[in-house]
Amino acid sequence: MSSSPPIALLGTGLLGSAIGQRLLQRGLGLRVWNRHPERLQPLVALGAEACATAAEAVQPCRWVIAVLADGPACREVLLSAENLRWQGQRVVQMGTIAPETSRELAVALQRQGAAYLEAPVLGSRPEALTGTLQIMVAGDEQLFQEALPLLLALGPNPEWFGAIGSALDTKLALNQLIASLTHAFSLSLQLVQAAGVNVEQFMAVLRGSALHAPTFEKKLPRLLADDYRHPNFPTAHLRKDLLLFLASARQHGLDTMGLRCLADLLERARDTPLDQLDYSALHRLTGPVPPPADPAPPAAAPRSG
Ligand SMILES: NC(=O)c1ccc[n+]([C@@H]2O[C@H](COP(=O)([O-])OP(=O)(O)OC[C@H]3O[C@@H](n4cnc5c(N)ncnc54)[C@H](OP(=O)(O)O)[C@@H]3O)[C@@H](O)[C@H]2O)c1
Repeated sequence: MSSSPPIALLGTGLLGSAIGQRLLQRGLGLRVWNRHPERLQPLVALGAEACATAAEAVQPCRWVIAVLADGPACREVLLSAENLRWQGQRVVQMGTIAPETSRELAVALQRQGAAYLEAPVLGSRPEALTGTLQIMVAGDEQLFQEALPLLLALGPNPEWFGAIGSALDTKLALNQLIASLTHAFSLSLQLVQAAGVNVEQFMAVLRGSALHAPTFEKKLPRLLADDYRHPNFPTAHLRKDLLLFLASARQHGLDTMGLRCLADLLERARDTPLDQLDYSALHRLTGPVPPPADPAPPAAAPRSG
């Protein structure tokens, strides 16, 4: 058991559980809470203390890490969890949410008695488990300095970006690239395959060019095998982040026309099994479009008597 004061972890989904595992491996004590408590079990097996409520997890801690799905979940848990009374805790919010929501959380939490940093990350479960996340931080710089020992357990070089919102805008800019690059690669691969071109020959030219991106290599086996199981980052989160990017870009007056069609494409995954699969499952949306169904035959003219 660790002798340092425990850290509260709110949200033990795909990313939160990997962050928790890393912190435990680094010898830090952890009090964990998740809306569905069964998701706490892997961390409890590694030594974390399960808490029945967010308030119970947070109460004796100085540092609180939140890894929740989206803005509404952050509001629900951080601002209105039952019996939650902030008493000077420092909240490090690591989920990808709207910069605007992050600013709102910072103000509301300060009023309620907690300090707040936004700290979205680039990287996924493997990077969290090995402490190699790229952590972008925004908020009070002194608070960032205070948080550094904790952040360094998760990433080698946490970067401070400035005022609240700036780290999240950076994160959204990066995730727009994830969506756009994956879509661009998927569509090119579809054409190559539909035209009967040898994929290895296509890849050899691509690899020898300035167009090549490591993410193409990472996703190629999934796309060729049409296997998107065991996601680290599901399609639903990619769509969420693309929509957040579009909203932020619009607020800055950018012309987002080119990207809106990709968001429409990803809407087709909503409420389908694709949403829970690896985001490269968007490859299933770029394939040949089925021909339109035959128009219904014209209704027979009524016989005249
Ligand atoms: N996965 C990645 O590789 C990755 C990488 C970078 C950033 N992120 C970001 O990190 C955040 C978490 O991602 P994730 O992959 O861990 O997502 P996830 O597996 O879907 O987990 C989401 C977490 O949020 C909780 N939650 C959702 N709605 C809630 C609500 N209304 N009230 C309370 N808790 C709620 C879930 O609780 P339940 O378990 O009870 O549903 C779960 O703990 C997201 O913003 C995501 O975009 C993820």
